[in-house]
Amino acid sequence: MKSYLIKAEKERNVRTDNISSVLLENFKKNVLPIQINLEIGCGHGHWLTSFAQEHPNSLYVGIDLRTKRIDKAKSKAKKRILDNILFMKAEAVEFIGALNDNFFIHNTYLMYPDPWPKARHHKRRLFNDRFLELLLCVTTSDSKLYFKTDHQNYYNWAKDSVARNSNWNFCNSDWPHHQKSYFQKMLPDNYDFCIQKCIKD
Ligand SMILES: C[S@@+](CC[C@H](N)C(=O)[O-])C[C@H]1O[C@@H](n2cnc3c(N)ncnc32)[C@H](O)[C@@H]1O
Repeated sequence: MKSYLIKAEKERNVRTDNISSVLLENFKKNVLPIQINLEIGCGHGHWLTSFAQEHPNSLYVGIDLRTKRIDKAKSKAKKRILDNILFMKAEAVEFIGALNDNFFIHNTYLMYPDPWPKARHHKRRLFNDRFLELLLCVTTSDSKLYFKTDHQNYYNWAKDSVARNSNWNFCNSDWPHHQKSYFQKMLPDNYDFCIQKCIKD
């Protein structure tokens, strides 16, 4: 294997180990396995902080790629003295891959993910067939995923992925928390859906 690939692999392993140890350290008061609710691309943590404050008996994790956004999110949670929420810098697919038998995701929230509008960039969209398969392995049997976007083409793309997947069904759940996310305040149009994991015998 080429040396730069070996280096990248090692760096990925370090990040993955770090994700599970930070989670374990942060939620050490809880009995294993631990159920978390995950917001992917949480930005400044505006929405998730307010949601976690309303539900002190559930655990929340917000992840984002941008360090500054995570730093702001952490300081919001600290000001409110919340011990049921953790913000960390992580990439979504890596984070999901790093979860081991100690952690399960109950609900997942994905609001205004980058839409990658050009057709040649659609393959960079986070919500796709592979993403739904990845989530299957780490979610509880009653897991739901809430998706919201201002981009109609991405909305249809995401719905098509769900329609192709026999393990997730659309459901009629109301949006679980009505505080607007940072992007929602700026973007007037939005389209959303909720899907639920199919329970198979
Ligand atoms: C358009 S912003 C939306 C922020 C927030 N959800 C809101 O509604 O205000 C998209 C966010 O997703 C983050 N992001 C993009 N791809 C990601 C990935 N693969 N893993 C984690 N975060 C990601 C970006 O850094 C950015 O903060």
